[in-house]
Amino acid sequence: MTTATKKPPKRKARLEKKAAQKPPTMAQLADRHALYQESVQNSEFELDFIDDTFKELTGRVASSMREDFCGTAISSVEWVERRDTNTAIGVDFDPEVLGWGEKHNVSRLKPDQKKRLELVEADVLEVTTEKVDVIQAYNFSYWFFQERKIMLDYFRRTREALVDDGILFLDVFGGSECYQTQKEKRKLDGFKYIWEQAEFNAVTNELKCHIHFHFPDKSKLKKAFSYTWRVWGAKELREILEEAGFKEAIVYRQEFDPETDEALDEYIATDDAEDYACWLGYIVARP
Ligand SMILES: C[S@@+](CC[C@H](N)C(=O)[O-])C[C@H]1O[C@@H](n2cnc3c(N)ncnc32)[C@H](O)[C@@H]1O
Repeated sequence: MTTATKKPPKRKARLEKKAAQKPPTMAQLADRHALYQESVQNSEFELDFIDDTFKELTGRVASSMREDFCGTAISSVEWVERRDTNTAIGVDFDPEVLGWGEKHNVSRLKPDQKKRLELVEADVLEVTTEKVDVIQAYNFSYWFFQERKIMLDYFRRTREALVDDGILFLDVFGGSECYQTQKEKRKLDGFKYIWEQAEFNAVTNELKCHIHFHFPDKSKLKKAFSYTWRVWGAKELREILEEAGFKEAIVYRQEFDPETDEALDEYIATDDAEDYACWLGYIVARP
């Protein structure tokens, strides 16, 4: 080992002291879960979609919901706030994110609302819960499952956890951009959100992605979140859902402005799609 580059202990201590005196950067002060909720999630929109679609397909109002891969459980919290009759079960296997959700989201609930929410630390492939009207698995988290037989097992389990007219809500994306590396930047209030598709395996469809956050003081929170997903197609997912016992799986595809091609916040039930570079949608599966 060479000692030529080693700093003498006093100089090292001085430098450390100087660094400690520097004000922390915005990245050091940032809370990655808060940034995630702000940049990735839109629970109000997603719950509106669940409410409207459930009513349209079943003729009644949904009340019990299970949120798989719930993370900070913001969607479950907003669900129990929506109606006095609503109940929610949030499932995630990571105690750190569940703890954050308890502290920052669940804590805002009134006692009666808290009683209607349960957070379960468990693997969605193992958990058993009471039957519910709605199961939502959002932000493509079920794409963690890389093998068809595991996806089938997951769908079977969700099928069993639904009441007779219950509905499983999944999100889905497609288009040529899924199958390539790329970066997408979005400016938000006080920070930039960067979505990076860092590696794509064209044989296995495995996609490695990261979320980074950049701040006005030039500091960065790199790889705040990383995921390895398999890019699944809507058609093959529908086939697996059918095998798992779902009688119908409707694709709701994002609408595009016919003149500007801009993606809109409207979703229509259709099997028609052009060769969009990127489209978002939901798969709504009924037993
Ligand atoms: C991308 S976050 C999704 C958060 C939220 N559902 C959303 O829509 O943004 C993925 C979460 O899934 C959890 N997760 C991944 N695999 C899981 C599994 N097999 N069982 C339970 N939770 C899992 C992770 O701990 C993480 O909190």
